[in-house]
Amino acid sequence: MDYSKLYTKNLPADVSSPAGLRAQVKYIFSVTNACPEVIDVELYADAARDALRREGKSLAGYPPPLGHEGMRQLIVDNLSEKRGADVDLDSVFLSEGAGGAIRSIVGAFIDPGDIVLQEEFSYLGTLRMLLEKRAEVIHIPTDDDGMDTDALEKTVKALAAQGKRPKMIYTISVYQNPMGVTLSAERRGHMVRISQEYDIPIVENESYADFRIDGDPLPPAMLGMDESSSVIYVSSYTKLLGCGIRLGYGVAPQEVVEKLEPRRPSNLASMTFYEYLSRHKEEHIEKVRTTLEAKRDALLESLEKHFPASCSWTKPAGGMMVWVKLPEGADTWKALDAAVEANVKYNPGGVFRAGRDCNNYLRLTYSHNTPDEIREGIATLSEVFQQQGFFEA
Ligand SMILES: Cc1ncc(COP(=O)(O)O)c(C=O)c1O
Repeated sequence: MDYSKLYTKNLPADVSSPAGLRAQVKYIFSVTNACPEVIDVELYADAARDALRREGKSLAGYPPPLGHEGMRQLIVDNLSEKRGADVDLDSVFLSEGAGGAIRSIVGAFIDPGDIVLQEEFSYLGTLRMLLEKRAEVIHIPTDDDGMDTDALEKTVKALAAQGKRPKMIYTISVYQNPMGVTLSAERRGHMVRISQEYDIPIVENESYADFRIDGDPLPPAMLGMDESSSVIYVSSYTKLLGCGIRLGYGVAPQEVVEKLEPRRPSNLASMTFYEYLSRHKEEHIEKVRTTLEAKRDALLESLEKHFPASCSWTKPAGGMMVWVKLPEGADTWKALDAAVEANVKYNPGGVFRAGRDCNNYLRLTYSHNTPDEIREGIATLSEVFQQQGFFEA
């Protein structure tokens, strides 16, 4: 069968990505997987068994339109207790990971040519969805306090002067992927004011809100600071419990929820992890915290030991990634093949940019390997970069 002429003419646009990211290697600094150590299969099995005994017959039908009600109520309670946001049960919808919620939102709002404002570097999955849709992505300067909202307002004003209004401000406001920074309380207030004044919704992605390791407590979510329904919120349980479970969610005004194409997770996953989280949420979060702390520290120590002073990197207080800057001229996109050859992979900076530029940056994630493997992997990566001439003065 020759399929080449049968595909729809509406296939999404191609977005370039380095082939090395798909390679099988031992030292994986390129994924945001859950830590394998925190998956207690006995406790997961108990939760699945008890959930099935209690409500397994409901699996005969499709999941409810917004997803499992118990799970949604757990999310409502969590947002109120931990993120300072009081929301209605009917504004919460379950999704196939945060990625599913984002895909529904992008699908409902973005036409070719629409402008989306996001951080200077941003999560490659959302960026890919936007580029596939041929959106115009504008990256806003971002520093240790998150997206620079003065620069954001300037950009919005300049666009308004040309008669253009962006479709959304997309921000990863907590332990940002890939830069690891958290949007400050002051800038959150400013971003909400910009959103309201210029009528541009904020899509607030807090997928890493449960991943504080140390440092200051997180400022409250913008979701709870906004009285005029201008914030659409996205988060996930995948990084906490296992990427394979595909359980995420969104919170949006009723009229938006009605427009979104449902991307519900399996009801079996929802009922199982509702059961598990109801019993073990806080102890699970603490286990993730201590596991990530040891891994982060191993990564930071190794960078200190093996990377020269011409490089700089973040010291994250949460999340699962370190953002590294190499000297100008280093090309981490091109060097990925040599790294893969040496059994290591990472994300070149360009995959987080619409223009695929800024490849003297790279993202190193630390959730997948053990602390000892992280030490070995970083020593190896440093050798690769030396051979590439990146560390020469
Ligand atoms: C900021 C952010 N949003 C969304 C996702 C997608 O997560 P999920 O596996 O829950 O779809 C990721 C995964 O890396 C992410 O980092």
